[in-house]
Amino acid sequence: MRLFLDTADIEEIREINRWGVLRGVTTNPTLVAKEVDDPERVWKEILTEVDGDVSLETTDPEAGAMYEQGKRLAEMGANAVVKVPMTPDGLDAGKRLTDDGIRVNVTLVFSPAQAILAAEIGAYIVSPFLGRIDDAAADGMHALRQICEIYQMQGYQTNVLAASLRHPMHVVDAALAGADIATMPYEVFAKLVKHPLTDVGLQKFASDWEGLQEKLKEGA
Ligand code: G3P
Repeated sequence: MRLFLDTADIEEIREINRWGVLRGVTTNPTLVAKEVDDPERVWKEILTEVDGDVSLETTDPEAGAMYEQGKRLAEMGANAVVKVPMTPDGLDAGKRLTDDGIRVNVTLVFSPAQAILAAEIGAYIVSPFLGRIDDAAADGMHALRQICEIYQMQGYQTNVLAASLRHPMHVVDAALAGADIATMPYEVFAKLVKHPLTDVGLQKFASDWEGLQEKLKEGA
């Protein structure tokens, strides 16, 4: 399962990139708006920093304009993936973009029925929003498992990207469900590496090592 960061903050991206595990980035209008900067500059910096897919989201709700915007976004970099929303216009624009050979990520997906539509237009990625399904008192992970099962049964090639992940167990369960990609905020990424027993073990190794150095010094 590829691990993506869900952010438009270049410093967060640079930090996680240093770990050698970052395979891509997803952005959306909310995340780009947080940067309070020219979106084109923000996107270009991310596309250059990341050696992997970077999703850039269209914002025009009308199919024709969304298609034109999607083409411009795709031209920003070889690693750009164009996000379109799960709406009739989004499907229309998304199909035209995939027909042009542009990689499309269908976003704001909340049900297996919507995921089938995304696969049928030949999307490169489908993005079910697990956390937001949970927020609506439903089971986001159940929806993800169903989508992965349907895609496998039907032989769909669209990559399943588990989005709106809120904690490390979401990431683990998404991997167990067979998701191809998991995207998460910096805070969740940072929690993946942490375990209290790692900290305790590290402290003990350090103090035992120090003890050995002292004994060797005393013996010298
Ligand atoms: O970027 C799409 C998705 O991951 C958003 O997550 O936390 O805003 O529901 P969230």
